Amino acid sequence: MSRGQNLACLDGVVGDAEETVIPVTDAGLLRGDGVFEVVRLYEGRPFALDDHLVRMGESAARLRLEIDLDAFRRDTETLLGLVGPSDAMIRLVATRGGRRIGLVEPVPDRSEPVKLALVEYAPLRTLDGVKSLSYAANMLATRLAVERDAHEALLVTPHGRLLEGPTSSFFYVLGGELFTPPISDHILDSITRRRLVAAIDVQERSASVDEIADMSEAFLAGTTREAQPVSEIEGRPLPEIPGPQTVAAGEAFRALVARELAS
Ligand SMILES: Cc1ncc(COP(=O)(O)O)c(C=O)c1O
Repeated sequence: MSRGQNLACLDGVVGDAEETVIPVTDAGLLRGDGVFEVVRLYEGRPFALDDHLVRMGESAARLRLEIDLDAFRRDTETLLGLVGPSDAMIRLVATRGGRRIGLVEPVPDRSEPVKLALVEYAPLRTLDGVKSLSYAANMLATRLAVERDAHEALLVTPHGRLLEGPTSSFFYVLGGELFTPPISDHILDSITRRRLVAAIDVQERSASVDEIADMSEAFLAGTTREAQPVSEIEGRPLPEIPGPQTVAAGEAFRALVARELAS
């Protein structure tokens, strides 16, 4: 990890992430009341920063939380200047206590195919469209999946509708066609998913647990994963790992990242 990957920016002041502190009375900590975004840096250049800031503004507005997006942009630029040309992530956090946090983090290694276990989850309607700090249920879902010898959870409603991963979108192939659940199923409007829906041949369609048996391939998509192949869902190995549509999606995504960063 380079020196710049240990940095935090709190209300515009840069310091060592380990030593940057906020008061314990902040409701962001006490109640998970706040919003966040994670922006990927490719060789020090932020991908889709504007989209992340817009989504953060929308999340905050829905949560009735006032935030200063221009200040978040300035903090991001300050951190970018210190990080240098490395692959990293910047986490932006706005708390109910009014704190503005930017954290540089390493990109987790998510190159290997993942085994998914189904974890029941009922999306909270009041948090629709909000990337909130209340992520305990998502983090627990991953832990429950790991306890069952999988790597990651695939969230499924009590009625058997497949949704997304705790921090990623879900794509699947049925009858040779690529699909992803619609946003109206109360999943996050993922920026990676948006880009893929615009760039490749994929249709939005709800999926049921019963259809897992017929899926020929699947992948998770997100800022930290791009398109990560799925090897198994709830004990059923997928026939193609990575399948051709997964490989094509990964290539298309990397190509659009390169194009956007060059422009
Ligand atoms: C619940 C959920 N779904 C999907 C994603 C992927 O979103 P993005 O592509 O914007 O990173 C995330 C990202 O953290 C998430 O938390």
